[in-house]
Amino acid sequence: MRVTIFGGSGLLGKALMHEWSGDAVTGLCSHDADIRDARRVEEVVREARPEWIVLAAAYTDVDGCESNQERAFAVNRDGAVNVATAAKKVGARLVFLSSDYVFDGKKSTPYKTGDARNPQSVYGRSKAEAEVKLLELMPDCCIARTSWLFGLGGKCFPDTILKLAASRPALDVVDDQRGCPTYTVDLARAIMQLCRKDARGIVHVTNAGDCTWFEFAEEIVSSAGLTTTVRPVSSQQMARPASRPAYSVLSPTRLQALGIEMPSWHDALRRYLKQRPS
Ligand SMILES: NC(=O)c1ccc[n+]([C@@H]2O[C@H](COP(=O)([O-])OP(=O)(O)OC[C@H]3O[C@@H](n4cnc5c(N)ncnc54)[C@H](OP(=O)(O)O)[C@@H]3O)[C@@H](O)[C@H]2O)c1
Repeated sequence: MRVTIFGGSGLLGKALMHEWSGDAVTGLCSHDADIRDARRVEEVVREARPEWIVLAAAYTDVDGCESNQERAFAVNRDGAVNVATAAKKVGARLVFLSSDYVFDGKKSTPYKTGDARNPQSVYGRSKAEAEVKLLELMPDCCIARTSWLFGLGGKCFPDTILKLAASRPALDVVDDQRGCPTYTVDLARAIMQLCRKDARGIVHVTNAGDCTWFEFAEEIVSSAGLTTTVRPVSSQQMARPASRPAYSVLSPTRLQALGIEMPSWHDALRRYLKQRPS
C-alpha cells in the first residue's frame, strides 16, 4: 500500500513515520507542499498516487489561532478541503485528524461521535468546519478525533512539566479541564489499523482513561521520581486567549467496534518517559 502523510514533520507525523511498517510511506512537511496551495497539493498527490492519505498537517497553536483567524481557517479548513479534493481526483482514501475542541465541553459523560459540534475557539471552529466540508466532499473519508497529544520530537505537556519541575519547587496546573491524554505512538498505530480496516466516518482515538491537566501533571512528576509540588488551579487563574472545553473526554465505542483497543494513558506515559532522552 502507498501512503502519503501531510504533516510528516509534526509530533504525530514523526510517530507515524516511525511506527508505520509494511507499506510505502511518504511524509511531507509544509516546505514540500503547503496545503493552502491547491495546485501544489494536487501535484504531489498525483506524483505519489497513494491508496491512503493521512492529513495530520494543521495550524495547531490553539491560542495563536485566536489572533490569526485567517491562517487558522486557511490551513485547517481550506487546506483540508484541498487535500480531500486531490485525494478524490486520484481515488485515494483519506484519514483526517480532528480534535476534541470541536465540542463545547458542557457534557459530563464521554462525547460520542454523533454528538453535536459546538466549538468554543477559533481552532475548534476551523476543525469543525473542516469536518463538515470533508464529509460533504468525501462521505467515505475517516475523521479521527484525538486529544491532548504527547510524544517525542516536539513540544508537549509532559516535556514542559518535566523541564519546569526540574527547576521549580512548585507548579500550578489547571484542574477544571478533563480530557484524554494520547501518546502519538499509540495514535499512529491506531491510524495504521484504521487504514487497514478500511474505516470510514467519525471515530474517536485517544488513550484509555481520563484526567485533568493537574492529575496528568501529578502523575508525570511522581513517575519521574521528582519531589516538585503540583498545585491545582482554575482556568480563570491561568487565563489564556482561547477557551478550552471543561470536559472533552471522547467515547471509544466506535473505535472498539472496529476491533481497536487503546492502552491506558498511565501505561502510555510510562513508555513515553522510558523513551524520552533525559
Ligand atoms: N497536539 C494536540 O494535542 C492535538 C490534539 C487534537 C488534535 N490534534 C490534531 O492532530 C494533528 C497532528 O497534530 P500535531 O500535534 O502532530 O501537530 P504539530 O506537531 O503542530 O505539526 C503540524 C504539522 O503540520 C504541518 N503544517 C503546518 N502548516 C502547514 C501548511 N500550511 N501546509 C502543510 N503543512 C503544514 C507542519 O509542517 P512544518 O513542520 O513544515 O511546519 C507539521 O508537520 C493535527 O491535525 C492536529 O490538529 C492535535
